[in-house]
Amino acid sequence: MQNSLSEQDSMMATMVQERPRTRVIAVTSGKGGVGKTNVVANLAVELARVGKRVLVLDADLGLGNIDVLLGLVPRYTLEHVLCGSHRLSDIIIQGPAGIQVLPAGSGLPQFTSMTDAQQLMLQSELEHVADSVDVLLIDTGAGVSPNVTYFASAAQEAIVVISPEPTSLTDAYALMKVLCRQHRERRFKVLVNLAKSQREATQTFHKLDIAAERFLNIGLEYLGFIPLDDYLPMAVIEQKAVTERFPCAPSSRAFVELAKHVAEWPVPQHPKSTVQFLWQQLIPMS
Ligand SMILES: Nc1ncnc2c1ncn2[C@@H]1O[C@H](COP(=O)(O)OP(=O)(O)OP(=O)(O)O)[C@@H](O)[C@H]1O
Ligand SMILES: [Mg+2]
Repeated sequence: MQNSLSEQDSMMATMVQERPRTRVIAVTSGKGGVGKTNVVANLAVELARVGKRVLVLDADLGLGNIDVLLGLVPRYTLEHVLCGSHRLSDIIIQGPAGIQVLPAGSGLPQFTSMTDAQQLMLQSELEHVADSVDVLLIDTGAGVSPNVTYFASAAQEAIVVISPEPTSLTDAYALMKVLCRQHRERRFKVLVNLAKSQREATQTFHKLDIAAERFLNIGLEYLGFIPLDDYLPMAVIEQKAVTERFPCAPSSRAFVELAKHVAEWPVPQHPKSTVQFLWQQLIPMS
């Protein structure tokens, strides 16, 4: 029997509502050099390999380097978009395994110094390009600058990367404190990188978890660890994702497991589940 127009309308409305929305994940850290960009690159590649459409936004404005890490040579970057000479869709470059990358370029002004017109233009542009992907992975800079905390707090999920070094823990704690106090963030997923063993990784996580619970009253989620692995810098020198260049390397195996886990995260039924919300957070409307 043919459906009535109103039945068809409601079926269509349900289909639209049920359409998977873009998951927005920021990878961030307090201390620099703990491996964020490598995590983003390898997680992106492995998510693509399990069938996700992945877009990487290099939000390390001024020091963006994911294009270099992946051996990509962008003709245009976010700088051209901010200048108004190009659309965001013009600067997308294809990376390994079918991932798409929005390169940051270098020498960019800080995000907070963009004009209202630039912010609005970037907002609508990103909504447009991110609409057709499953995962938007954001590689932020390190530290507690507004640039970093905006991206980390606006994404649906923040993955805080730490290493066993004490300074990495104190800086991660400082970042979470800012996100907690100034942005009311209370959910953090923690990935330990550069760990010599599982034991060192869990001990590192527990130190941060204890401090976060005691002083910020929040519980952290342990995402696992990526081992300290000589193959990873070798892949970096060849400007390739380690998972592509050395698929059997210990770090590659860990990235594969991480991607399988991330691919299964349910899309949160929360206002933060749209990219539009991300940009509304980033760009306060006057
Ligand atoms: N698991 C690992 N094993 C060995 N070396 C690693 C590992 N992870 C990262 N590195 C090395 O650490 C260095 C820093 O990595 P990466 O650039 O990804 O850090 P980052 O957090 O993005 O830095 P920044 O804060 O400057 O953006 C790289 O030279 C890389 O080779
Ligand atoms: Mg980086």
